[in-house]
Amino acid sequence: MNRKYRKTIIAGNWKMNMLASQVKPFAEELKTLNPRAKWCETVFCVPYVMIPAALKAFKDSRVAIGAENLNENPKGAFTGEVSAAMLADLGVKYVIIGHSERRQYYGETDISVNKKVHAALEAGLNPIVCVGESLEQREMDITLELITLQVKAALAGVPAEKMRRIVIAYEPIWAIGTGKTATAEQANEVCCAIRTVIRKLYGARIARATTIQYGGSMNEKNARELLAQPDIDGGLIGGASLVPEKFSAIIDAANQE
Ligand code: PGA
Repeated sequence: MNRKYRKTIIAGNWKMNMLASQVKPFAEELKTLNPRAKWCETVFCVPYVMIPAALKAFKDSRVAIGAENLNENPKGAFTGEVSAAMLADLGVKYVIIGHSERRQYYGETDISVNKKVHAALEAGLNPIVCVGESLEQREMDITLELITLQVKAALAGVPAEKMRRIVIAYEPIWAIGTGKTATAEQANEVCCAIRTVIRKLYGARIARATTIQYGGSMNEKNARELLAQPDIDGGLIGGASLVPEKFSAIIDAANQE
């Protein structure tokens, strides 16, 4: 983390878990555990159908609500889809784009990720852009090249003045939901490489101000070490974001020092 230059953001990604009826009790419990996050910004990215309940439940706390996906088109005949404007209109602040599960199971590509980033920015949302390598790619030693390409593709055409709204989440696919975390050094190496890509594209000032999260089995035990790394500015957290005690402990870790 480097609080002097950029925001620390702890974001939960509930994925296809929880029910709308569970949101209020969850929020109440979290509020009692963690009355206020001092430094870090807290976000819950939730399924579309839970957004109104989450906005209501977290209304009086400093927790922002995000979506887990969006459609890249502004509007029209796209049955079953949800646009960026629909999310913004509800009061959603963040949206996860290009999560590896969407790339893997729903055919999302670097090109569609880029379109979604533009759609989100257009509507005033803050994209949390996910990048990450598979185990095979790591073993082939092409991680940094691959991540560089993913970041460049995601940001293609994004003007410098919109970069303050972009969050990048480095999520090694082999660490997601597996209990295998990248070591703090491995995670920092890639987050640092991402910052270098941003520096080359946008210059030192913007690179220094960009929040880069780590995600992949981050939990209450390893969060402190990961967040102590200079280029890791927060976490995108799946499993541990479903348990108030665990998520609250991660917020505590981000509030340290
Ligand atoms: P995990 O998920 O924390 O359960 O590994 C992270 C993510 O997929 O965003």
